[in-house]
Amino acid sequence: MTQWEVPKRAELIRSICEAQLAQLSELLSIQMGMYFPKERWNDLALGIKTAANEFGFMDTESFIQWLVSSSTLTKAQIETLAGHFTIGETYFFREKKSLELLQTQILPDLIRSRRGADQRLRIWSAGCCTGEEPYSIAILLDQLIPDIKNWQITLVATDINPGFLEKASEGIYSEWSFRETPSHMKERYFKRKARGHFEILSRVKRIVKFSYLNLAVDVYPSLLNDIHTMDVIFCRNVLMYFAPHRVNQVIQNLYLSLTEGGWLVVSPSETSHTLFSQFVTVNFPGVFLYQKPSHQPQKADVFSHKPEPEAKDLFQPRLNSSASPVQQMPLIHECNLSVPLGPHEQMMTGPQPTEYLEALALYEQTRYGEVVDKLVSWLSLSDAERKEMDLSGKASYLLARAYANQGKLVEALESCQTAIRTDRLNQGFYYLCATILQEQGQMEKAIGALKRALYLAPDFVLAHFALGNLCLQQSRFKESNRHLRNALLLLRKYPPEGVVPESEGITAGKLVEMISAMTERAESA
Ligand SMILES: C[S@@+](CC[C@H](N)C(=O)[O-])C[C@H]1O[C@@H](n2cnc3c(N)ncnc32)[C@H](O)[C@@H]1O
Repeated sequence: MTQWEVPKRAELIRSICEAQLAQLSELLSIQMGMYFPKERWNDLALGIKTAANEFGFMDTESFIQWLVSSSTLTKAQIETLAGHFTIGETYFFREKKSLELLQTQILPDLIRSRRGADQRLRIWSAGCCTGEEPYSIAILLDQLIPDIKNWQITLVATDINPGFLEKASEGIYSEWSFRETPSHMKERYFKRKARGHFEILSRVKRIVKFSYLNLAVDVYPSLLNDIHTMDVIFCRNVLMYFAPHRVNQVIQNLYLSLTEGGWLVVSPSETSHTLFSQFVTVNFPGVFLYQKPSHQPQKADVFSHKPEPEAKDLFQPRLNSSASPVQQMPLIHECNLSVPLGPHEQMMTGPQPTEYLEALALYEQTRYGEVVDKLVSWLSLSDAERKEMDLSGKASYLLARAYANQGKLVEALESCQTAIRTDRLNQGFYYLCATILQEQGQMEKAIGALKRALYLAPDFVLAHFALGNLCLQQSRFKESNRHLRNALLLLRKYPPEGVVPESEGITAGKLVEMISAMTERAESA
C-alpha cells in the first residue's frame, strides 16, 4: 500500500456509518460464515467498495442499502461477494506435518484395510482455494497406490469462490505456489509451461473433483453433492476466518460428513479442545488430528446449535413428527424413501415391534453400529418369533442405510437387495440401491436401479436428478438433459424455499441452481 492509500481508506470507512458496517458484518457472517469484527472493518469497507462496482452500483451507499435490505442473496450474488472477501493464501504441501501424517499413517492404514475389499477412499478438501491442497493430496495418493486405476477414489475439493475454483480446475501455477515444494516433486508431477508456470499432470488432475460449496449455508453431508462418509476431511485455514458463532455448526456438519473412524485435519492454529470435543483428539508429534469415534453416540450438548436431524444425515430416515411445515405440504410424490413412523404403524395392533422402533431411535442419534447390531439379530429371528413380518422390508432398508452410513457398502447393498425382495414395488428401495451402486462405481447398475425407481414413480424428482447426473458423468448428454429437464419441470411445483422430499434438506431453489450448473456444463462439453 502506498502512503497515500492510508488516508483514503480512513476516509472510506468514515463514509460508511458504524451501524451499516455492523449490519454488513452480520450479513456476511450469515451468508458466508465470514468474521468481520470491528478491527477488520477496514477490510470490510474496502471489499464493499469494490463489490459495489461489480454489482453495477455507482456509489457504495446505495449498494450497502440494497445489500442490507435484501432478505436473502442468490448463489450468484454470494459468489460475487466471495470474490471480494475471501483470502486466497495457499501453496503446495502447506503445513507439511499433517500431510506427512497422511502419507505415512492415515492413508497407508486405510489402503491396507481396503485393499482387496471395496478398494475405496473418500477425501474432501473443504475450502480448497486454488487447488494446491487437494492436488498435494492427489500426488500422495498417486505415490501410495500404484494400482490407483483399480480403486474407487473420491477426492472432492470445494470452495465458495468460483474464481478460485476456475483456477484450480486449470491446474496451472506460478513459482509462488511451490514455495514449500521439494523440487523433485515439481519435476515429477508438473509440466513446464510458458512464463515460468507449471501445469499439474493430467493423471493427477483427474483424481480431484472441484465443486462449489458454501460451508456456511449449503447442506452437507449430502448424497447430492457427494459430501458424505468421508475417510478424511481437510478443512485447514478456513475456520479461522469464520465468525465464532458460525464455527460450531460447520464443525458439527464436518463431523457428520465423516465416516466412523474418519479424520478431520485442521490447521495447527485452529486446534481447540473445546470446539472439537466431539472428536477423539489424537496427538501426533507436532500435530493434533481429530478422529470421529466409532460406534459412539453423539454428545448432543457439545454444540450450541443442535443440528436439525433431517438436514444432516444422508441416509437418515425422518420421523413424521419432526417434519417442518414445508415438508408437510402436499408432496409431488410420496417416494417412501424414508422409514417414517406413519400413523398406520402407530395404530398397529398386537405386540409393538420394539426392536425396530429402538433401532429407528438409535438411527436418529446416528448410532449406526448399534442399529446394525440390533437389526441383524432381530432379522435373524424366524418370522414367528419376530411377529411383525411386514416390517422386515423396512428393517432391511434401515439396516442398509446404517451400513451405508458406516461406509460398509457391500453389506449395505446386500440388505437393500433383501428389502427389494420383500417389496419389489418400493421405488425408494431402488433409489437407495442406486446410490450404493454409484458409490461402488457400478454406474450401469446404478442407472438400471434408477430407471426401475422411475418406472415405479415417474415423478420421482431426485431419481431424475440422479439419473441426469450419472448420464452426464458417462457423457450421455441427451439422456442426461432429458432427466434434468424432467427434474426442473417437477421442481416448478415447489416454492424455491420448499424442501425436496428425501433430499436431506435441500430446497427446490438450490436444486434448480445445481441442475442449471450441470446443464451449463453439459452444454459446454
Ligand atoms: C486461506 S484459504 C485456505 C486454503 C487451503 N485450505 C489451505 O490451507 O491452504 C481459505 C479458503 O476458504 C474459502 N472459504 C471461505 N469461506 C468459505 C465458505 N463459507 N465456504 C467455503 N469456502 C470458504 C476461501 O474462499 C478460501 O479459498
